[in-house]
Amino acid sequence: MKKEFLNLGKQPIANGFLFKDQIKEEYFYNLKVAFDNETKLVTQTEYVDPPLMFNDEYAYRGSMSKTMRDHFQNLHSSLIDYGKEILEIGSNDGVFIKHWDKEKAIAVEPCGNFAKETLKMGYTTYCEFWSTKLAEQILVFDGKRDIIFSANCICHIPDLDDAFKAVELLLKDDGVFIFEDPSLAEMINNNSYDQIYDEHPHIFSVIALDNLLQRNGLQIVKVENLSVHGGSNRIYAKKIGAKVDKSVEDNKSYERILGLDDFYTFKRFAVRVQQSKDSLIRLLTNCKKEGKKVISYGATSKSTTIFNYCNIGPDLISYITDTTPEKQGKLSPGMHIPILPPEQGFNETVNFAYLGAWNFLDEIKEKEILWVLNGGKFITHVPSVKFV
Ligand code: TYD
Repeated sequence: MKKEFLNLGKQPIANGFLFKDQIKEEYFYNLKVAFDNETKLVTQTEYVDPPLMFNDEYAYRGSMSKTMRDHFQNLHSSLIDYGKEILEIGSNDGVFIKHWDKEKAIAVEPCGNFAKETLKMGYTTYCEFWSTKLAEQILVFDGKRDIIFSANCICHIPDLDDAFKAVELLLKDDGVFIFEDPSLAEMINNNSYDQIYDEHPHIFSVIALDNLLQRNGLQIVKVENLSVHGGSNRIYAKKIGAKVDKSVEDNKSYERILGLDDFYTFKRFAVRVQQSKDSLIRLLTNCKKEGKKVISYGATSKSTTIFNYCNIGPDLISYITDTTPEKQGKLSPGMHIPILPPEQGFNETVNFAYLGAWNFLDEIKEKEILWVLNGGKFITHVPSVKFV
């Protein structure tokens, strides 16, 4: 049974960047988060209908940061021994699949704008949502797979039982299902409640994932802790009966120490979320009073949650800069802060920059070293509200 512990209020589609004339049709929902006592899954009370988020205008491009481009290139090298017949669920703009053999790799991507890109690159691409129905179809046309891979996408899928059944169906008996998503342990440790938005209906613990996989014929055989996306777990799962690495129990016992199997851990987290909100509003209001120009760096889904939950609009954040062409010239979802290309908006007139993309702090600090040396300061709320 699901038990609610956090209400993040009225929220728009996190990647729903929009033009002024679209404001009157903007979609909102109430973002509430719950703990499922049976599976130990942290999940939203109600899910946004996927086509409202993932469609032909989807704005998130996986290849926009060097960190992620390097991440996927290295991952490809480490997976070569697992086989060549790979299928990627949520292939986005091809940032990972482009490293694989065009004859053997299959892309699955429901957003038409990106499906077109992998198709153009020469990959068989199914422009559909991942489901057992699709897996049955792929089984007929392409056969079983050595590797089924997914990065930052399994946590997007409302019906996890169906998603895992589909994987079990299409995986060879000795095949491996590898997927990575933000880690619940890291979210709790960092107070990074902005990991929660429409596209992340669940935030995964290893404990919950193993419960869900096992009831669908799969089990976790290895876990790797990653630094990307503010702390993620890479899960290796196989059909039940495979050899299990020590990292699985190590991660589960760490999660038990953190209390990730206990509802009251999340009640306490909700109190810290409220404190973080109060202190971010206080800091930004003080900057405003002192006449400082504050912008936001990176028009992220995460910052959609922050700005809407904290009611932060253009009065406190003058504009947002972002390198993604699909976001530039538009307004941020819900709070309607203008988005500019960095070349236009990131300069010496800016005193402080709130880090919407705090997960790329190292890459950004390196890139903006001159601005920092000239007195510019970044603001973050992770793990607590402060100047960096
Ligand atoms: P990400 O943190 O992956 O966002 P989300 O919360 O939506 O998962 O995305 C980072 C965003 O920040 C992306 O839109 C690109 C942008 N960005 C910049 O504008 N400049 C940069 O230097 C970097 C690294 C990212």
